[in-house]
Amino acid sequence: MSKKTVRDIALAGQRVLMRADFNVPLQAGVITDDTRIRAALPTIQYILAQGASLVLMSHLGRPKGKVKPELSLKPVAQRLSELLGQPVKLAPESVGDEIEAVAAALKPGAVLLLENTRFHAGDKKNDPEYARQLAQLGEIFVNDAFGTAHRAHASTVGVTEYLPAVSGFLIEKEIEFLGRATGNPERPYIVLLGGAKVSGKIGVINNLLGKADKILIGGGMANTFFKAQGLEVGDSLVENDALETASALVAEAGDKLVLPVDVVVADAFANDATYKTVAINKVAPGWRILDIGEATIAAYQKILKTARTVVWNGPLGVFELANFAKSTFTIAKSLAELDAVTIIGGGDSAAAVKIAGVKTQMSHVSTGGGASLAYLEGQALPGLEALDELVN
Ligand code: 3PG
Repeated sequence: MSKKTVRDIALAGQRVLMRADFNVPLQAGVITDDTRIRAALPTIQYILAQGASLVLMSHLGRPKGKVKPELSLKPVAQRLSELLGQPVKLAPESVGDEIEAVAAALKPGAVLLLENTRFHAGDKKNDPEYARQLAQLGEIFVNDAFGTAHRAHASTVGVTEYLPAVSGFLIEKEIEFLGRATGNPERPYIVLLGGAKVSGKIGVINNLLGKADKILIGGGMANTFFKAQGLEVGDSLVENDALETASALVAEAGDKLVLPVDVVVADAFANDATYKTVAINKVAPGWRILDIGEATIAAYQKILKTARTVVWNGPLGVFELANFAKSTFTIAKSLAELDAVTIIGGGDSAAAVKIAGVKTQMSHVSTGGGASLAYLEGQALPGLEALDELVN
């Protein structure tokens, strides 16, 4: 990575303003997955061990510039405090005189968490005045919010106008692994793509087609490819406005793009629906495709066994319904047994390897859903671009 990291800057005695992505799932105010908080710990602990004080900031949800008490970072402050084994005070606001005074009084080793930055409309708008006010709270800016690196907001990009700006260890690690997926991966390099919509993955297919040895397709997005090839898909989810693109991709990719040969069809979108496995040319009207079939799982496993690098983004079936989760979990477990670098995009595929119990056996599980997708599409990430360059 050509950007400066926390290792490249003197932190002792400094007040560090750090952007993390603490946008964690909550149910009735309880954090249901603290992965993103844990992922920020190495950088937080490093900064504190260097003798700096720390002002942390993050968004949570999409409050649209309004104060929404249910999107307060209070549960995050509590969880972070437990994980760090030290108090983490939650500021009632993210900017203002009162917060500046609290930040200025922080002793080395102390941690303050600002309230949800998106309670201010200025965050999303990358408002220079809001960014300036945030920047008043620290002397050095550290961005470790990989999950929000695809957003050019005041708390990710705007602040870099006012402070020396470096990355944390999480961003560094994400770029190291995702960079292998888009750079010069060890071959054979196999990309496994799923998820509901092909429209969301066109950019990834286009970017990785020239780099991967094979792109294996599963999930609802396969249906659009089937229909584009003139196959009957019954009541399956299809993106009719992506049919032409799908046809063009199939024509361009040739045998590099691998589609399922069989699928699990059901008579309703429900776990208790009647279901069966059929060849891909045997989908009858009234049925809908909810998973890839066993012959496809076996074929994909065979291809994956040869891989030295695998990137996986998007579930291969409707894995939230147990009867249609088989391929997603079977393939997740197969990946765990490979002698290959396995890189899992964030979001649903990250959730799938976690539920399958194989998360720790993957080389890298991204903490960014939209951000990892943007990176795999070859897009520049504004939150990364804005950081200071490493000069030799
Ligand atoms: C995410 O969960 O993908 C990130 O935290 C970004 O959130 P956003 O899509 O609301 O900007």
